[in-house]
Amino acid sequence: MKTETPELAGLLAREQAIRRETEILRDANIALTQNLSLERVLETLLDFLAQLVPYDSANVMLRSGDSQFVVSALRRYEGFQNVETTRSIAFDSTNPLLHRICTTQQSLVVPDTRKEPEWQFVTGADHVRNWMGVPLVSSGAVIGLYSVDKVEPNFFQPEHARLAETLAARAASAIQNAQLFEQSQRYVAELEEIIVERERAEVALRESEERYRQLFENAKDAIYVHDLKGTYLKVNRAAEELSGYMRDEIVGHNFEEFIAPEHVNFVRKRFCAKLAQQGETSYEVDVIAKDGRRVPVEVSSRAIYDNGQLVGVQGMARDITERKLAQDALQMFSRQLIEAQEEERRRIARELHDQIGQILTAVKMNLHTVRQFSHGSEAAHYVKDNIEAVDEALRLVRDLSIDLRPPVLDDLGLDTALRWYVDRYTQRTGLSVDVVSELPDRNERFSRDVETACFRIAQEALTNVIRHASASQVVVQLMKSANTLTLIVKDNGVGFDLKSLRMRSPRAATLGLISMQERAHAAGGTLEIESRRTKGTRIRFIVPL
Ligand SMILES: Nc1ncnc2c1ncn2[C@@H]1O[C@H](COP(=O)(O)OP(=O)(O)O)[C@@H](O)[C@H]1O
Ligand SMILES: [Mg+2]
Repeated sequence: MKTETPELAGLLAREQAIRRETEILRDANIALTQNLSLERVLETLLDFLAQLVPYDSANVMLRSGDSQFVVSALRRYEGFQNVETTRSIAFDSTNPLLHRICTTQQSLVVPDTRKEPEWQFVTGADHVRNWMGVPLVSSGAVIGLYSVDKVEPNFFQPEHARLAETLAARAASAIQNAQLFEQSQRYVAELEEIIVERERAEVALRESEERYRQLFENAKDAIYVHDLKGTYLKVNRAAEELSGYMRDEIVGHNFEEFIAPEHVNFVRKRFCAKLAQQGETSYEVDVIAKDGRRVPVEVSSRAIYDNGQLVGVQGMARDITERKLAQDALQMFSRQLIEAQEEERRRIARELHDQIGQILTAVKMNLHTVRQFSHGSEAAHYVKDNIEAVDEALRLVRDLSIDLRPPVLDDLGLDTALRWYVDRYTQRTGLSVDVVSELPDRNERFSRDVETACFRIAQEALTNVIRHASASQVVVQLMKSANTLTLIVKDNGVGFDLKSLRMRSPRAATLGLISMQERAHAAGGTLEIESRRTKGTRIRFIVPL
């Protein structure tokens, strides 16, 4: 049995202790560098700390922001039921003991908490009598601290503090690495989210582009985009069908190449107007198809902007051949109806005048003969009555006949017929009318359609004046230019609001105005009705010759 001197035994024990500590620290080092999860790192720390310093309870607080320390891992606090809430306990660095550790960057031992005036009691940690705080310093800054507790006072010795500090030096950088790693993980996750979000947006954009493309491509109407010079950039299938040109025969070409030559100027003007103003414009033009066919289209288009900068025009052209045909048919039908009506009137007027008028004239002559024979007799009185009655009938028949179709219109022309009508009108109504004729040749004849339309429109307009206007002045004006004839009937009467009249009245209540319009169209002309309350009315009929 070998005997050892007490000094030697002490030395040996000391050497063993140091070896053990060195091994623990070495293992701690390995364990700490093996893991990058902060939670694992803190748990590992508390494990190794327990091997170096026999604590009753301990926790690691990490700095959060400038002034707070948050309990981030803990061991053996029986008093704390709910681990989660304990983990989130935070201490302000104004806590005098924490503050001291932070500023000195040295560990601090409170031998007996009950005797330490600056000790702040925390419920759940009432068991703590002896306390040691060890700062975790990395890159010259306190990033956190160990809080190590003992139930008995005066337990921790400088030796414990030294061991805890040695571990702390290694722990601090491991913690910082784990924090950095965690932060970078968060960044990566955020970045991934951004990427996923962007991909989602791109998919949505692609989908909506695809929807637009489908809509563009499959639309029944031709759709086009052209630049500020009018050069087509994009057209759809319907545009190919409408024009008969292939897409590459349209794209890169100017719109003027596809439009009826006589419409080009008009479209150019529309184009300039559109660039000057926002919103949609629509108009009708003829497109000349590849095979030379004229295709009437209704165009609606709007300017397009890129970042507020005007870049071109997008438009839609609808083939209105069918609609035009229907309109033409309707107009022809209306013209035929008007013609038939005039013809019928002419026939009845002639019949009244020629047949009935002659019969009545014959009756009248017979009555005159009878009167000679019945002179002085009782019958003479009745014969006289009959002659008067027949005279009245003759006059009515003549008036009726003239009203139905004044022969003067057929025989002497428009100017004379209008003057004749106005004379009769003044006689009947007492309202005097100025006829201002600016025809170079008063006897000039126009087509029967034009003359009839003018006469009937004037007739309806003058009838309206006497019926509705309460006017004191009426003017009928006839003017001729190189290729148009214009009739104006205007009065200074009460006027009316055409828009509200059209809105609130049934069609039947404006038949006179409608028939004027129809006559105007049937003759190939246009009718403008201009009227304002108390400002009188002006009817203007313009017809090409
Ligand atoms: N010269 C006018 N002055 C004032 N009101 C008019 C004039 N012409 C037409 N109107 C108004 O327009 C309405 C429609 O006219 P119209 O279609 O000719 O129908 P009608 O003469 O049978 O009432 C009239 O009822 C009247 O209110
Ligand atoms: Mg009328």
